[in-house]
Amino acid sequence: MPNFSVDWHSHNIPHWRRILERYRGQPKVRALEIGSFEGRSTIWLLENILTHETAHIDCIDTFKGSVEHERMVSTSIICSVDSWTTPSRTRRRSNAS
Ligand SMILES: C[S@@+](CC[C@H](N)C(=O)[O-])C[C@H]1O[C@@H](n2cnc3c(N)ncnc32)[C@H](O)[C@@H]1O
Repeated sequence: MPNFSVDWHSHNIPHWRRILERYRGQPKVRALEIGSFEGRSTIWLLENILTHETAHIDCIDTFKGSVEHERMVSTSIICSVDSWTTPSRTRRRSNAS
């Protein structure tokens, strides 16, 4: 498990589980997570909901959405995961022109 700097996810797990349970283990589910930050909730989704080998998630985060990010370099991260058991494709795109 990676080291995360903050936990914005754990207290939401009961809600996510209730809302997303119907997708657990389903084939060909495509998820888009807006606001993935360090990937804590992404990993939870992959381990608990997007468990079918054909499930897929795309993630994006601007790091602009929270006050605590104001001093960070403005960067967008887009990652695409086909399966938690295979290497993910990750692209980092700087917003700096
Ligand atoms: C409370 S954090 C949650 C992070 C992550 N989902 C987790 O549970 O660990 C919200 C994140 O959403 C991002 N965010 C807010 N608005 C966004 C937007 N319009 N597009 C992309 N990311 C956004 C923020 O930069 C922040 O990293």
